[in-house]
Amino acid sequence: MLILFVLFFSLTIVSVGNATLVYVNTTITDSAVLECSIQNKNITDWSNVRFYWQDNRDFVLYSYNEGRKMAEHVNDYYKHRVSAFPQDIIRGNISIIIKNLTLEDNERTFWAFAAVLDGSVMKKYHLEHTQICQVTLQIGVPYQNPRLDVNMKTMTAVCTTQGGFPAPEIQWVLLYTSSHQSVESRNIQTTTMQNYHDRLYSSRSTLLIPAGPHEAVSCLIHNPTLNTTMRATDTFSKGAGVTSSPECLISAAVFLLTALHWL
Ligand SMILES: *[C@@H]1O[C@H](CO)[C@@H](O)[C@H](O)[C@H]1NC(C)=O
Ligand SMILES: *[C@@H]1O[C@H](CO)[C@@H](O)[C@H](O)[C@H]1NC(C)=O
Ligand SMILES: *[C@@H]1O[C@H](CO)[C@@H](O)[C@H](O)[C@H]1NC(C)=O
Ligand SMILES: *[C@@H]1O[C@H](CO)[C@@H](O)[C@H](O)[C@H]1NC(C)=O
Ligand SMILES: *[C@@H]1O[C@H](CO)[C@@H](O)[C@H](O)[C@H]1NC(C)=O
Repeated sequence: MLILFVLFFSLTIVSVGNATLVYVNTTITDSAVLECSIQNKNITDWSNVRFYWQDNRDFVLYSYNEGRKMAEHVNDYYKHRVSAFPQDIIRGNISIIIKNLTLEDNERTFWAFAAVLDGSVMKKYHLEHTQICQVTLQIGVPYQNPRLDVNMKTMTAVCTTQGGFPAPEIQWVLLYTSSHQSVESRNIQTTTMQNYHDRLYSSRSTLLIPAGPHEAVSCLIHNPTLNTTMRATDTFSKGAGVTSSPECLISAAVFLLTALHWL
């Protein structure tokens, strides 16, 4: 644990000067390219490049030396899931692709290390297994279409969605002709739960519909990692409009106040 921490810490420092921090957001079961190119003008001959990628558990994803993949160094966890691009390696591009991504890969950081023999008889390296690149994966699972139920008697709207990752950001919007209006947070109550087994979230948000001239209500489910938003809209049926009952209440209150005044 301590060793891991020290390694992580030192690499983080190295990366500040040498490599750029990159985040890649991808959908579960998709694949992701971990991009990395060796930028060194002194290197003209890439035939002696050696490189490897490893994760923040020190698991090796890919190892390449003497013009071939060194499969024996690859951790079982990544076997058959990771490949490189041979046509690009000869240009110093040591990118790899990881397939069949799962939530186990979420928030995992990967580092590429490389060395290139300079071709002289001295067997010197241009880069001595220097860390070249750092990439962090962020995996998302898309949410199912949200379900929206409006109860005009209790003046509540309930929006539910499930099966996504990470936790959704839920927003309510009231619509009136072409304008729309956000809803005050005190009128919203949201509960989000995570399934212990598959790590997926489900959410239920209840809106107390405030009085106003609105004609429809929308619930927006945003997946922050996939940057996608799903929307469910309910158009209030004519006659049973939201305006009617609050107005009734107001006139009743006015009547009551007037009555009290006369007492
Ligand atoms: C290229 O080689 C020169 C001379 O050996 C050296 O001073 C310089 O640091 C090298 N540049 C890089 C990017 O490695
Ligand atoms: C490196 O190769 C990968 C895979 O072919 C490609 O997606 C990427 O654009 C390349 N990067 C550069 C800088 O050429
Ligand atoms: C990747 O996923 C596909 C489709 O789900 C499956 O057929 C294949 O066996 C998986 N490959 C690995 C290496 O897990
Ligand atoms: C990638 O995912 C992170 C974590 O959910 C999020 O903060 C970030 O905005 C996402 N980036 C893009 C480009 O969508
Ligand atoms: C999310 O997507 C919208 C367009 O749909 C874009 O304007 C916005 O910049 C994206 N956010 C991030 C964090 O990439």
